[in-house]
Amino acid sequence: MVTGGAGFIGSHFTKLALTRGYAVTVIDKLTYSGSIKNLIKLKEVNDFEFIEGSILDEILLDKVFKNKQYNAILNFAAETHVDRSIENSSEFLLTNILGVQKLISSSMKLLQENKNFKFIQISTDEVFGSIEDGHFDEKSMYSPNSPYAASKAGGDHLLSSYCKTFDFPGIITNCSNNYGSNQFPEKLVPLLITKALQKKQLPIYGNGKQIRDWLHVDDHCNALMYILEKGISGNQYVIGGDNCIKNIDMALNICSLLDEIKPLKNMKYKKLIKFVKDRPGHDQRYSVNASKIKNELGWSPRVEFLDGLRDTVNWYINNENWWKNILPYNYDGQRLGLKSKD
Ligand code: NAD
Ligand code: TYD
Repeated sequence: MVTGGAGFIGSHFTKLALTRGYAVTVIDKLTYSGSIKNLIKLKEVNDFEFIEGSILDEILLDKVFKNKQYNAILNFAAETHVDRSIENSSEFLLTNILGVQKLISSSMKLLQENKNFKFIQISTDEVFGSIEDGHFDEKSMYSPNSPYAASKAGGDHLLSSYCKTFDFPGIITNCSNNYGSNQFPEKLVPLLITKALQKKQLPIYGNGKQIRDWLHVDDHCNALMYILEKGISGNQYVIGGDNCIKNIDMALNICSLLDEIKPLKNMKYKKLIKFVKDRPGHDQRYSVNASKIKNELGWSPRVEFLDGLRDTVNWYINNENWWKNILPYNYDGQRLGLKSKD
């Protein structure tokens, strides 16, 4: 079972799992960031089932788990955007904490019937907070700074408490920032690409020197496949691409690729870059050390950053319908997450 499978990473994982011969049920509430269009080609696949619903709906979960035996649950379902969590964190606490609790307690019965059952909680490196030098790993202390990160930390703590108290077979994964196709255009990479394609300003928060450790979504999904097949219950795995990039450099890379692929007549895309007011509580740097999953499970990232970014830019150029159809209904590109509206 893949929860949140109509979102960015969950839809990529669903496709990978079906290709590998797994049967997949997706449960997704289809919030603003989830789209059935991300799964549309799978409708005719025999081993695929889609259920529209929330992980907070215990009655639905009990019914689903009564009807079918699942070997594993991968929980991608979440509210995921830091800026939205600064605007209002209620939904973050509900889905990212209470949702995890409902999913765990409803799936307890699966464990009674299948001793190999696994519950994989897809979490983030943001639970560790910001790091000046060095890298986060599985031993790093949780120190979340945004309401989003705090809610994900809450979900992680709850799962690890069930692992200790009930021997629940949970695994926590903490991945760094992902980029790739089908990402809702509120996050940095798709926001910059789609705004540039509309010749709109490219907002860079603060001085643009904040650093994120970027991993292609296919590499993240592959890592999750290793964890599904070889990961050990009760463990935590940090995932990342050893690919730290400043936000301003990410913007410049995207602009250069667009200059090459879709040049403008009288202007370079970087002219659209505009430094804007910083995000409140903005984490300066994320960086992870993924040695454990590399050494113990044999995973390593494969996608070269500039190749992956080029494919991503091309995808947004070739799939204008995808983002142009969802944007006016769900998000018109406005700035979110400023404490005061000045
Ligand atoms: P996303 O916002 O694209 O997708 C989230 C999906 O969850 C959507 O399809 C949404 O409809 C669904 N959802 C939300 N609330 C739900 C609920 N109550 N019940 C059922 N479905 C619900 O997010 P994403 O970027 O694909 O992130 C997926 C997971 O990966 C999240 O848990 C996130 O914390 C984690 N993660 C993301 C990144 C990243 O860079 N995007 C990095 C590390 C970890
Ligand atoms: P984001 O994609 O929101 O991911 P996260 O905050 O979870 O890492 O933002 C990535 C970085 O880009 C972060 O440092 C904030 C910055 N950012 C901008 O500079 N401009 C933007 O319009 C957005 C959305 C983000």
